[in-house]
Amino acid sequence: MKKDAKISNAVIKRLPRYRRYLKELQKKGVDKISSNEFSSLIGYTASQIRQDLNNFGGFGQQGYGYNVEGLYNEISAILGLDKEYKMVIVGAGNLGQAIANHTYYYKAGFVVCGIFDINPRLIGLKINDIEVMDYETIVDYVEQNQIDIGIICTTKDSAQEVADKLCFAGVRGLWNFAPIDLEVPEYVAVENVHLSDSLHSLAYHMNRNYEEKEKAAEK
Ligand code: NAI
Repeated sequence: MKKDAKISNAVIKRLPRYRRYLKELQKKGVDKISSNEFSSLIGYTASQIRQDLNNFGGFGQQGYGYNVEGLYNEISAILGLDKEYKMVIVGAGNLGQAIANHTYYYKAGFVVCGIFDINPRLIGLKINDIEVMDYETIVDYVEQNQIDIGIICTTKDSAQEVADKLCFAGVRGLWNFAPIDLEVPEYVAVENVHLSDSLHSLAYHMNRNYEEKEKAAEK
């Protein structure tokens, strides 16, 4: 990776998509791919792909293209997916339970170690074999188990207090589902997830497609 280079978030957001397509190519037994072939597969221009990957030193070879396995491994390392991350879920309601039941994370190197809630009716319950623990004990648990990521699935009103506690206990990242902008120390990364953003973007594209179809019909 280029030293001291600040990579734009737009580039970082495209990397998981590159990685996903490379994994599919690997499954099909493809060893190498030209940037043009990769471009028509993934839907970004060849120059966009080159520009994105040049941020990290390139990886392609003139006249050869990209080595699929090599590029997959490089992107995995850039994203930090060559390690395992320990996570806790805070809030064992509808969303927290759905995430705990989503075992994909285990395979992908993201391990849910614990679930916490304040509701005594939920404490002790097992979700996907993980016992819901009392939120009062979260700081000790995170410290002792060297938890990397906190997943915030509490109500909006509790989210900042939960974030403060998790940061104090030593997490390095927060995956925040609560609809609030969290204030955290500089060294803690926050990724906000809003399913509604995706739905609103869908509405925009649907309406734009419809308008274009109407315009084409008028011609
Ligand atoms: P829920 O009401 O079913 O669950 C919230 C849980 O948080 C409850 O079990 C409650 O006891 C617990 N809780 C509250 N304060 C706590 C604290 N200080 N420590 C530990 N646990 C605490 O709500 P649901 O439907 O699971 O939603 C959870 C959050 O996720 C909400 O903020 C909601 O707005 C948000 N949400 C976000 C979505 C997204 O796309 N980002 C989609 C759906 C929900």
